[in-house]
Amino acid sequence: MDRSWKGDEQMTTYAATANPGFAPYAMEEIRRRIPGTKVSGLAPGETFTFTNGDVEPEALLKDLRKQEPVFLRHLFPIERELDVSADPGETSKALRDYAATLGERVRGAKVAIQVRKEQHSPFPFGSAEGRDEVAGVVRELGGEPVAREADWIVSIYATKKKLFMGCSKPRDNLSDWPGGAPRFRKDEGMISRAAFKLLEAEKAFGLPLDRFSHALDLGAAPGGWTSVLLERGLKVTAVDPAEMDPSLEMHPRLRHIRRNAAEMSFPPGSFDLLVCDMSWDPHHTCNIVNELADALSAGASGIITLKLMYRKPFQSIQELTKEYGRRFDILQVKQLFHNREEVTMWVKRK
Ligand SMILES: C[S@@+](CC[C@H](N)C(=O)[O-])C[C@H]1O[C@@H](n2cnc3c(N)ncnc32)[C@H](O)[C@@H]1O
Repeated sequence: MDRSWKGDEQMTTYAATANPGFAPYAMEEIRRRIPGTKVSGLAPGETFTFTNGDVEPEALLKDLRKQEPVFLRHLFPIERELDVSADPGETSKALRDYAATLGERVRGAKVAIQVRKEQHSPFPFGSAEGRDEVAGVVRELGGEPVAREADWIVSIYATKKKLFMGCSKPRDNLSDWPGGAPRFRKDEGMISRAAFKLLEAEKAFGLPLDRFSHALDLGAAPGGWTSVLLERGLKVTAVDPAEMDPSLEMHPRLRHIRRNAAEMSFPPGSFDLLVCDMSWDPHHTCNIVNELADALSAGASGIITLKLMYRKPFQSIQELTKEYGRRFDILQVKQLFHNREEVTMWVKRK
């Protein structure tokens, strides 16, 4: 972080979210990145707060956007913090009072209102009800409540003890989904839930898959990722000893090779996209992918899940980044919402 901040401005505290069980790693990332930050847990393993420490908030957000932490999924600045109440009248007043402070910011703007609560929070509203409380005030102020593509996001987050409220630009939250949890329609990933990982990677990395023409899918069965690629119009060579979903087997743009990926070779430059979601030791997977790198055209993209098998995520990621770095430039490593004990890496063939 380059800019040191010792101004008169008030300290900013952010509410942050990671995947269940991974908040300790997100907290560690924040501690390493932000000198002087104070980090404090909220919902165990999942949410926490941190302060801007010695860094000017604008510079901090710019830096987080530029080089996204792996495990921090979502954040928003806390503008108001209250004790959470179980009383609907009191909570309604708290939400409306906060919304009334949004003033000029929301006039003529599209405003998404995202309401979340921790399990067992006494917060008396569901997300839709909470949203309606705030939406009425936003309309009175001349703003337009929307679900997506907003200019501003009003975030409401209730824990067992506290109610946090804030308003920010979508890009400053790292994700414009509530808590960084994107929802896809079920029919977008019918064959396997794994398909959601690729759909999410496409959005998170800003990498429209329809710009590629021929993909190599390693560890493809039962075919969730393959089906997404076929839907985007790509030719797909799928390698997996296991069976693909019967609905895919006859697809004219799919070639399924029922073999171990370690035994495969292809003519140089055969593919402009590699995707790999192989359920195997991540170092073995890396060897296989590196061996197949010549089958990709120079500059081809790769989307690879890295299984965090040994519960030492930072060490695994560091080692794997180095190993993949022999054949690939590493563009981003991110734990997506749909990743469980793994992270997703976006690479480009050198
Ligand atoms: C998590 S599943 C992949 C799911 C897939 N991405 C989807 O969307 O349906 C992992 C797959 O990796 C395959 N696999 C594991 N080791 C492999 C290897 N050495 N070569 C090819 N496939 C492998 C398994 O057979 C399994 O089908």
